[in-house]
Amino acid sequence: MKRTTLALIASAMMASCAPSYRDVIIPQPQVVETVKGSCPHDAEPAVTIDSSMEHGPESYELTIGKKGITIKAGGEAGAFYAQQSLDQLRKAYEGRLPAVKITDWPRFRYRGCHIDVSRHFWGKEVILKQIDMFARLKLNRIHLHLTDGAGWRMQIDAYPLLTQRAAFRSKSDIYEWEAENLPYCNEGDPDAYGGYYTKDDLREIIAYADSLHMIVIPEIEMFGHSNEVTAVYPQVGCKKDGTRCSVFCVGKEETFHFLETVLDEVMEVFPSEYIHIGGDEASKYYWKACPDCQARIRKEHLDGEDGLQSYGIKRMDEYVRSKGRKIIGWDEILEGGLAPGAVVMSWRGEEGGREAAAAGHEVIMTPSVFCYLDAVQNNPEHEPLGFGGMLPLPKIYSYDPAPAEMPGKEYVMGVQTSLWTEMIEKASHLEYMLYPRVFALSEIAWTDPGRKDYDSFYRRALDMSDTARELGYNVFDQRNADLAPEGYDQVFKHLAYGCKVEYLTPFHEKYVKHGGDETALTDGLIGGYSFKDRWQGYLNSDVSVIIDLGKPTTVSSVSSRFLQFRSIEVMHPEAIVIETSSDKEHFEKVCEISNELDWENRNYTYKKFEWKADSPVETRYIRFTGKINDRRWGWILLDEIMVN
Ligand code: ACM
Ligand code: ZN
Repeated sequence: MKRTTLALIASAMMASCAPSYRDVIIPQPQVVETVKGSCPHDAEPAVTIDSSMEHGPESYELTIGKKGITIKAGGEAGAFYAQQSLDQLRKAYEGRLPAVKITDWPRFRYRGCHIDVSRHFWGKEVILKQIDMFARLKLNRIHLHLTDGAGWRMQIDAYPLLTQRAAFRSKSDIYEWEAENLPYCNEGDPDAYGGYYTKDDLREIIAYADSLHMIVIPEIEMFGHSNEVTAVYPQVGCKKDGTRCSVFCVGKEETFHFLETVLDEVMEVFPSEYIHIGGDEASKYYWKACPDCQARIRKEHLDGEDGLQSYGIKRMDEYVRSKGRKIIGWDEILEGGLAPGAVVMSWRGEEGGREAAAAGHEVIMTPSVFCYLDAVQNNPEHEPLGFGGMLPLPKIYSYDPAPAEMPGKEYVMGVQTSLWTEMIEKASHLEYMLYPRVFALSEIAWTDPGRKDYDSFYRRALDMSDTARELGYNVFDQRNADLAPEGYDQVFKHLAYGCKVEYLTPFHEKYVKHGGDETALTDGLIGGYSFKDRWQGYLNSDVSVIIDLGKPTTVSSVSSRFLQFRSIEVMHPEAIVIETSSDKEHFEKVCEISNELDWENRNYTYKKFEWKADSPVETRYIRFTGKINDRRWGWILLDEIMVN
């Protein structure tokens, strides 16, 4: 055999030993070209920065080939992201690295995660640890909700009581503390629960984030969610008797002096171009009763309390802009007219963000149904208490913050997940709620929608979960995900299936099931794990309906399932009454089931109530009543009335 032939065989054998590229990186890179060959696992990359690269400073090209590894990046951030991709490849391959050329850039310039550090205070180490993981995922913003009624978390030299007292409360459990009417404590009191970041702590967090190409966005909440401020500085609230209230008084100049002074100190510590000023859920109740607020409305010819809110936000916008920065606010800042320089953070849905984008304002999307991580990610019966329905991994992955048909989509700066912590007290729980869902956020924020593929992502998310666990994070195991109850995909063709339901008590428009039509409770579909998924709701009332079976029918059982989720005021019924009739005038009670309510249980519980006839009965009509609790308070939710 000739030497050249031998050499060819040898090189072919080497090529066949080379690993082939498979998807491992989160977020999925924009362009991956596989090439033949491989390079040693520990080859050091040669890095060049080329600021003329088309996709800007966060973009990069990572080439792994026979000659080694090269990184070309549009800026330092791009080089850092190339290194993250390389690290993930190194983790995935034990031997040689497969040859590949990755050309990559982010879809959005704002890729963030919000953490509520007020409801429970998360020390510096907890935040630094999450920054580490966020950076691996190529996120570039962390938004800290630094102030809220549950505790003020930033040292402000001009107003020391904000940290000496407003940062501490008497109980760790928010709900127990609220039930006791929000007692704040002094730092150092034996039971004081809370804490705050000193300016040095914050500078350390900011510097660390900066070293990983991440910006920390501070949020100072105004004009609502501010009980902790008015508890220690009542002069900036609306009450005249020196007691606290949940809002700042927008009528008083003193309030603006206070807020501007606070923001001066915030801007001195945080270099971020964007300063979040909250703006959500400010109660109008106190403003309506406050002479100063009402005088402001008259003097400035404002359109009521919405106009007052808008006036206040516009003043803050002007102030922050005069310092060369910009404000971000939750989407309520649209009410009464948006301040000219404000960025809208759309949370109640996508509508606020869409409206602002269509009008040419920058927006950040974090609609709660897709992005609020305080919702559970799994069958809620087996999860720690969560908020607001269910947000499983596939749902967040499915979200597109700026779909092609959206007017003004170019104004969508990006997307973030938001983690509120009313129900989260331990760092391990915080991480459990973050991961792996933040992996999905990373991909929807970075990767173009055409490159998304859930099956591929799922495999990569499992690998990334393992990596995160090795690094000491507490990650929900997606392999154990139980996302829908048994029978969820089935249509139950029971005897009342498709039969007409007459509503003796009206259901609420918020929980309609099946479009709210007259067969909603007989459509054969059971409710999902989330209260938002196929449940019909009644507010402060019984549920009472008559089902018309269409003709005399032999019936041996009637059942229905109810949901209880005390945290959002959904309770089981206190009793179920089932009656039969052949003419819809004369009803005979065949069953009454009483139910002792468990008021202490705040978590999801499903309960099936069933009547089984001793011997089958003939009936055409069934009147089904679920009785509300004797407080006549809250919601009743049921999914289907099954007749067999
Ligand atoms: C919010 O969730 N209240 C912004
Ligand atoms: Zn007022």
